[in-house]
Amino acid sequence: MEQFDAVLLDLMLPGRGGMEVLQDIRREQPLVPVLMMTAFSSVENAVEAMKLGAFHYLPKPFKNEEVLNLVGQAIAQSRLRQENQQLRRALLERHRFERLVGKSKPMQELYRLIEQIAPSRSTVLIQGESGTGKELFAHAIHQRSGRASAPFVVVNCNSIPSELLEANLFGHTRGAFTGATTARKGLFEVADGGSIFIDEISSIRPETQAKLLRVIQEKEFMLLGSTEPIRVDVRIIAATNIDLKTLVERGDFRDDLYYRLNVIVLDLPPLRERVEDIPLLAEHFLQKCAAENGKTIERLSLTVMERLVRYPWPGNVRELENVIERAVVLCEGWMVDVDLLPEEMRSPPSSTLQPLDGPVLPEGTTLNEAVDRFERELIQATLRRTRGVQKRAAEMLGLKPTTLNEKIKRLKVTL
Ligand SMILES: Nc1ncnc2c1ncn2[C@@H]1O[C@H](COP(=O)(O)OP(=O)(O)OP(=O)(O)O)[C@@H](O)[C@H]1O
Ligand SMILES: [Mg+2]
Repeated sequence: MEQFDAVLLDLMLPGRGGMEVLQDIRREQPLVPVLMMTAFSSVENAVEAMKLGAFHYLPKPFKNEEVLNLVGQAIAQSRLRQENQQLRRALLERHRFERLVGKSKPMQELYRLIEQIAPSRSTVLIQGESGTGKELFAHAIHQRSGRASAPFVVVNCNSIPSELLEANLFGHTRGAFTGATTARKGLFEVADGGSIFIDEISSIRPETQAKLLRVIQEKEFMLLGSTEPIRVDVRIIAATNIDLKTLVERGDFRDDLYYRLNVIVLDLPPLRERVEDIPLLAEHFLQKCAAENGKTIERLSLTVMERLVRYPWPGNVRELENVIERAVVLCEGWMVDVDLLPEEMRSPPSSTLQPLDGPVLPEGTTLNEAVDRFERELIQATLRRTRGVQKRAAEMLGLKPTTLNEKIKRLKVTL
């Protein structure tokens, strides 16, 4: 397939149906344009072929010039799409920092901060809602430090029972406690020379907090069951999605440990506060999940993008990743459309201009801008309902077609 610029495909073939072949081509070479031809033309076939991503549908008999012309157009369009895809990839590459994707101002500031702090040995505290990328940030710090070739050890304090956490972190001698039939190295020793990422640090119980404080201050610790201190060179990166300060005030977290952790703080903004990263992240997850599932999906539809950008993302980047993964798994075509989004994200958002107790002018807009926006949204919605037929839309809106057309141009209405 790779050697072809375009394919002319008959619907009736010996052995396999043309529709099946079309699907294969779309899956393997989504950028190769396919022109379907058949004498048995029917509207359903044409619709199905177009849905599967055929470039055009030619009923037989056709004129040769017509075919030549279409082939020329198909090749030109596919070149543009190839270029477009390369540009999108390049854009994604440009807005990447280690495994992190994002170009918003807060992300750029965080990248800069990481560059500055990575080389030092200082303890870092990463705070952010669930799914904001705390672990990825911790990894980025490790990668940009001089410790990148040494281990990056992850400990999730929530997933280890608190009575076992100490034994995990510091290790133990043989017979240190019931069940300790052999000696075991702790994660601090495993991480020697590298970094240790202590996730959900808020759930560490007070005794363990005290021992952790000692490692930070003295750079040494003792195996459980031993009094021999062990010296290690480990960079500690801690994370929490609960505000530690509040815990300190309530007496649930040691203040001296808090002050030790609080030297360098990374506050990760929730996704809803950096909306401009959503398309980039969506694109990144689309490519990643498609590759993992052996699918070639070219892009997300514009409507999907619009819904993603407007959704508030309580589960942040992880939730976005899950939504895209689901869509990719369910997707059978070359583009992800709105029907593959979870139910609650499918319907268009209701106008934000009319809250319960009467319209309020959105901050930073003038009356004219707000009216324009309302008009634009109304016209856009109507045009979608009429599938772009302006004459029908004008009727529905009680406008003359020429007036509607003027408005579409002035307001730059897109479908
Ligand atoms: N900026 C980003 N670029 C690319 N992927 C990201 C980004 N932020 C988060 N992710 C991805 O989102 C998922 C959640 O990230 P991560 O586990 O780092 O979040 P977290 O803040 O540790 O969440 P939790 O508090 O729930 O553990 C991961 O699969 C991660 O790869
Ligand atoms: Mg995490």
